Amino acid sequence: MREFRLTQISDAHLARRLGPLTDNFNRLAEHIDASRPDLVVNSGDLAFDAPTSPDDLAFARELHDALPVPCRYLPGNHDVGDNPTEFGPVPSEPVSERHCQAFITAFGEDRWRFDAAGWCFIGLNSLVMNSALAREAEQVDWLASELATTKGQPVALFLHKPLFLNTPDDPELENTAIRYVPMPARCHLLDIVSGCDLRLIACGHLHQRRDFTHRTVRHVWAPSAGFLIPDAIQERIGTKEVGLVEYRFQPDSFEVRHVRAPGQVDIDLNALRRPT
Ligand SMILES: [Fe+2]
Ligand SMILES: [Fe+2]
Repeated sequence: MREFRLTQISDAHLARRLGPLTDNFNRLAEHIDASRPDLVVNSGDLAFDAPTSPDDLAFARELHDALPVPCRYLPGNHDVGDNPTEFGPVPSEPVSERHCQAFITAFGEDRWRFDAAGWCFIGLNSLVMNSALAREAEQVDWLASELATTKGQPVALFLHKPLFLNTPDDPELENTAIRYVPMPARCHLLDIVSGCDLRLIACGHLHQRRDFTHRTVRHVWAPSAGFLIPDAIQERIGTKEVGLVEYRFQPDSFEVRHVRAPGQVDIDLNALRRPT
């Protein structure tokens, strides 16, 4: 395969009771039907809030099953609970093995690796980082063993949370620690990937579109497929709009397109009348 077309969607936050978010997902599904990528990756927060409403995961599974192309999935904090951090408040729903198992039961996996078009693609469960769950250590060992077999191929890493705002050693702050992969897991992850040819880190979570390069690695923040977080709750860092990201990978190169599916609507979280 000389070219691999991958579409990243993120933060759809699906729930049977929230029709406007289903409408936005259906517009995105129509675009995927028209564009027919080789693979769709959902980088997490498939559910509106699975820890408090387990049916949200089942509903998200139904909608993704209707997509006409293969999909791979990664969990978000609204699917499996959130990371403990040193400086932020204790999450209202901390990540747990029970929540991770519910996600795996619904979607089959919470991490993955595959190769295509001369690239190695790795997806990680970013919510177990810093959790001290056995699953966290197992993922570290698994990642090291997978990276030992990349054979020099460039690596694209997918996970729910951005690694950092601007630089790897950005300080963790009380009111923003939950936005990024927490310390010290962030440093440990960067150590592990330092020996491979990492070119891309693709994430979601902030519901803001952003695309920047730090040293040799391009960081792509996918927008939410569903809704925007108002400025009163979260300041503007990138672009607040709903949409998706399309990638074309070829041996030793890749292209990124920032896309909005026809008919997708910028829904404000406040309009959904239920806080996340
Ligand atoms: Fe989200
Ligand atoms: Fe999230």
